[in-house]
Amino acid sequence: MLGRDLTDVAAAAGIETIPVDVPEIDISRQRTLADQLPTGDWLINCAAYTRVDDAQKEREAAYAVNAEGVRNLGEIAHARGVPILHLSTDYVFDGYVKEELTEQHRANPLSIYGASKLAGEKALRAVGGDFVIVRTQSLFGKHGANFVKAIVRKLKESDAPLRVVADQVSAPTYTRHLADALVRLVQTRPTGLFHITAGGSCSWYEFAQQIVAEIKPGHDVQPITAAELARPAKRPAHAVLSNAKFRQQTRHAMPTWREGLETYFHEEDYFT
Ligand SMILES: NC(=O)c1ccc[n+]([C@@H]2O[C@H](COP(=O)([O-])OP(=O)(O)OC[C@H]3O[C@@H](n4cnc5c(N)ncnc54)[C@H](OP(=O)(O)O)[C@@H]3O)[C@@H](O)[C@H]2O)c1
Repeated sequence: MLGRDLTDVAAAAGIETIPVDVPEIDISRQRTLADQLPTGDWLINCAAYTRVDDAQKEREAAYAVNAEGVRNLGEIAHARGVPILHLSTDYVFDGYVKEELTEQHRANPLSIYGASKLAGEKALRAVGGDFVIVRTQSLFGKHGANFVKAIVRKLKESDAPLRVVADQVSAPTYTRHLADALVRLVQTRPTGLFHITAGGSCSWYEFAQQIVAEIKPGHDVQPITAAELARPAKRPAHAVLSNAKFRQQTRHAMPTWREGLETYFHEEDYFT
């Protein structure tokens, strides 16, 4: 989802990318990876095992991509002397801290997926090359399954009330806005860890209400708890990441989640 938007947004900014994906490239296959990976000025990793609930039962598969795969890429970037930019997640946090989370806050993942992503961050640091880690969250965009698409599909298929989790708060981030932020960031010689998300914050319930207001006003949306939904992987209840370091680095303020949603609905054919 992010990788394809990043390719488009970079091209619009005059930056050439060489996108690669499975099955041609498998980042967990250390032996063949270096020969298959194109060369460039930056190595950017948007690949991941992202099936958060499945990871609870597929620990090895999640770690193979999110930890070992990231280590493999880090080693290749280091050997080539190029910086690597890697994407991580707010799911490295437990969500118990109610203030905005900076890059200094302690990670404490609640799920296998979160733990595998944190292991990837640590692996990249351990390699010792020139790296940037960007933690983001709650992505929605044209090229992948996401919350907005799921709600839109339900609104299209049925008039039944929507029941949406109201006790998990984040900042849903439009992938094109994140891609634009990444393009800006790489042009500033960044190093280390950055948090980049949409501005503002909301619960999934509030986000669903906004989606309904945009495309099917009046449709009933009812709040439920995460416990009622009982998904296999636990998510952080309150993960609002501070963009302050990114803003200082780039002089760019991220659009809010409302602006992201409005732009998404204007730019995408969301009923297809
Ligand atoms: N989506 C979110 O809400 C969210 C939130 C926070 C952070 N992130 C992070 O942001 C990044 C981008 O997320 P996204 O939502 O754009 O992910 P995505 O749509 O799931 O894309 C990940 C891609 O990686 C590929 N992949 C899986 N295993 C691979 C391997 N061994 N080698 C090479 N490619 C492999 C996947 O292929 P298959 O589809 O064939 O498996 C998929 O094309 C990820 O690092 C993710 O952890 C995402």
